[in-house]
Amino acid sequence: MKPLELDRDFEALLDYLKRNQSCDFTGYKRPTLMRRFSCRMQQLHIERYQDYLQYLQSHSQEWIELLDSILINVSSFFRDREAWDYLASNIVPQIIASKQPDEPIRVWSAGCASGQEVYSLLILFAEALGIESCLQRVQLYATDVDKVALQQARQGVYRANEVKGLAPDLLKKYFEPTEQGYAFDRRLRRRVICGCNNLAEDAPMSKIDLLACRNTLMYFNPDIQARILVRFHFALKNNGFLFLGKHETLTAQRPIFMLDNIKHRIYIKGLHLELGDRLSITPKFRLKEASDSLVSQLCFWQAAFETSPFAQLSVDLNNRLVAANEQANFLFRLTLSDWSLPFSELLPGKLVSSHVAIGKFYCDRRPVNLKNIKWITSEGTKYLDIFIAPVFSTNNDLLGVNLTFIDVSDRQQIIEKLEYKYSELARASETCQETKTALDTTRIELEETQKELEALHQEIQFIERDMQFRN
Ligand SMILES: C[S@@+](CC[C@H](N)C(=O)[O-])C[C@H]1O[C@@H](n2cnc3c(N)ncnc32)[C@H](O)[C@@H]1O
Repeated sequence: MKPLELDRDFEALLDYLKRNQSCDFTGYKRPTLMRRFSCRMQQLHIERYQDYLQYLQSHSQEWIELLDSILINVSSFFRDREAWDYLASNIVPQIIASKQPDEPIRVWSAGCASGQEVYSLLILFAEALGIESCLQRVQLYATDVDKVALQQARQGVYRANEVKGLAPDLLKKYFEPTEQGYAFDRRLRRRVICGCNNLAEDAPMSKIDLLACRNTLMYFNPDIQARILVRFHFALKNNGFLFLGKHETLTAQRPIFMLDNIKHRIYIKGLHLELGDRLSITPKFRLKEASDSLVSQLCFWQAAFETSPFAQLSVDLNNRLVAANEQANFLFRLTLSDWSLPFSELLPGKLVSSHVAIGKFYCDRRPVNLKNIKWITSEGTKYLDIFIAPVFSTNNDLLGVNLTFIDVSDRQQIIEKLEYKYSELARASETCQETKTALDTTRIELEETQKELEALHQEIQFIERDMQFRN
């Protein structure tokens, strides 16, 4: 059989499962998937995919057996011990230290299989916080698509060979021997919520501090991996940690996760998501809904831009006008043809560039406020306050600038009037002072004249008395 034919038959098989059993394996890496199918087919002595498709069609329960063979739910406690030691000594203490003493801690084991990873995580937190505090504060979500494995995770009972990797003291402290094997501590087990969740399709958990998704991501093709990572980004709190399997690495184009430790595959939530990321995880049947919601959001932003009482313009890095509200159109008499001109050739552009070099502004990437800028128009002189703010994308790339023009001519007129009144007042007070000085001089002169008169009067009286005396 030619490989091409083989592929086509295999894709038909996947298509059948997707349409008839709601098992969508189209996002899984082909080589691993084909190996898993072949395993099951060998058990049934079937060689060709098209024969297996017929078998599936005639045996309604076969897809459940197939699922069991595809979903490799091998797991163990503290799988890859060194990574868990690092988690215990570095990550768990960081999470605890970042919280208030009674604040909840939320952990998600995605692709948890039969639960060994979930209880390993719970043991780490119980050891770090103490059992009582762990019971109060830690909430663990355990999800998988394999319902059989989830059932074991829910029960938390393991055979002797499944717990053999556990340190004897931890086994003694956290497990109780039962007829079926070892049962995980009943009280702590209540802190675990198990549920079916398809990482490639379902909504993620939220406000998670630590997300373990180990040895699961690697089964998906890069496109689906990228979408799952967007969901994980949504799920995590800022500074939340992502813990991957030993053979898994992140190769996303944009660093929505940053590396904490490459050896142990630990990452921290990184850059914000962009619109494209959000759309990538919107189910196709909801794309119309999503685009309608985007259009209405855009209309809202536009209306908000228009509602501003001030003239506003946005200019991109190519010096082109991108947006102008009605107030700006009115203030600068902008017409349709202005939109094709470079911003620096437009009236507002000339006004701004006579006070600040736009090139320098782009280098500094800081807001600039220009106060009381004089603008001589055909209708008279206006005064403007101009606020120039850089506009950044979610990953901090400069997109352009937003300019707000506030007409402060009225304020300026009042200031000028006040200044005029003030100078008039100063002049009047000067005149007053001069008059007061003149009055003071006259008063002094009067006083002196009066004193002279009094002296004269006394002299006359003296002469009169002298004459009487002589007579
Ligand atoms: C190899 S186990 C990993 C178990 C555990 N995380 C560990 O590292 O020990 C992979 C698990 O991924 C689950 N899985 C596969 N596809 C999945 C999907 N689309 N959504 C959620 N879980 C999935 C499988 O059912 C399986 O339990």
